[in-house]
Amino acid sequence: MKTKIINIEVLDESTLADLEAVASLIRAGGTVVFPTETVYGLGADALNPQAIKKIFAAKSRPDDNPLIVHIASLDEVKPLVANIPAKAETLMKVFWPGPLTIIMEKAVTIPTEVTGGLNTVGVRFPDHPIAQAFIKMAGCPIAAPSANRSGRPSPTQGKHVLEDLDGRVDGMILSADTELGLESTVIDMTVEPPVVLRPGDITLAELREILGEVAVSANVTENVVPEKISSPGMKYTHYSPKGELVVVKGSPEEIRDKINRALSHHKGKAMTIGVLASDETMGFYREGLIISLGSRNDPKEMAKNLFSRLRTFDELGVEKIFAEDIPLNNETLALINRLYKAAGYAFI
Ligand code: TXA
Ligand code: MG
Repeated sequence: MKTKIINIEVLDESTLADLEAVASLIRAGGTVVFPTETVYGLGADALNPQAIKKIFAAKSRPDDNPLIVHIASLDEVKPLVANIPAKAETLMKVFWPGPLTIIMEKAVTIPTEVTGGLNTVGVRFPDHPIAQAFIKMAGCPIAAPSANRSGRPSPTQGKHVLEDLDGRVDGMILSADTELGLESTVIDMTVEPPVVLRPGDITLAELREILGEVAVSANVTENVVPEKISSPGMKYTHYSPKGELVVVKGSPEEIRDKINRALSHHKGKAMTIGVLASDETMGFYREGLIISLGSRNDPKEMAKNLFSRLRTFDELGVEKIFAEDIPLNNETLALINRLYKAAGYAFI
């Protein structure tokens, strides 16, 4: 199929007609990529099972991995869920619109195709003017996973989406790079205490300030498959670059020495080696393709850059990537979660 691509940087009178053209693709049961503040999403009418199936086909996504339903105003939540827990309502008031997905019991009207057969649904109100205008114009809740081929790094730039999905989806809103670069925080509000299934820009500390006790799913930083998988997405390979990615652990000196030893070991071999370093540590390495994730003092910048840097290594044909480990704290949890998953929990 030919993907209808429209370019919108800012919303104004002249772009509304373009937006209407892609919104009408949604109403006709098609799939459309749109920007959000986290990553680009691949949307379809959340109430149309046939349209939902097209999302799974375009991404080659396993059909038991549920989709997030996107809305553009608070009053759209009620028809999507069986009930709104009081604490969930508080979260909506504090963090929406924003990078937080709230899992609640689903309403019967939500097709099981959207929820991967679960009786819960994740709902998110994105903080992005184009996403909001697009959802409003489409006139329906929009189910949308990240707009990458399944298993690839999530797309933070229009060109990432085109690499993965051009010709596989009906439409696309091509816009600026996404602001946050990592997907939303996912919190399950159907259990007590609530559980963070996926960390994101809304941090644990921020959630605990509002909710009190909040648990964290064990596999956020560790390679464990919980007995009862509460978020099916957790069991699949994620975010992987084409090259082999390994996270290097230890003190800053140990990390530097381990990477330099590995680089000299590979020297002269016909293999392209890369290092994912930081502004502060780039100068430590003398061989290989050294790419910085950003400054160690700016976890948000590093989070924003992670997926695009992984794709850069791919473009450069890097076959083996050594990534420096990052100190774990409230601000780096989401970044570490994505980095470890991208590496398939391979550590040295
Ligand atoms: O920032 C984001 O959340 C982006 C943008 C496009 O909004 N979307 C996104 O969707 O990252 P996706 O499909 O790539 O990731 C959704 C995650 C998956 O890990 C999925 O398993 C989990 O949320 N999820 C969705 N619905 C769920 C549910 N009912 N119960 C448990 N986990 C759920
Ligand atoms: Mg995804």
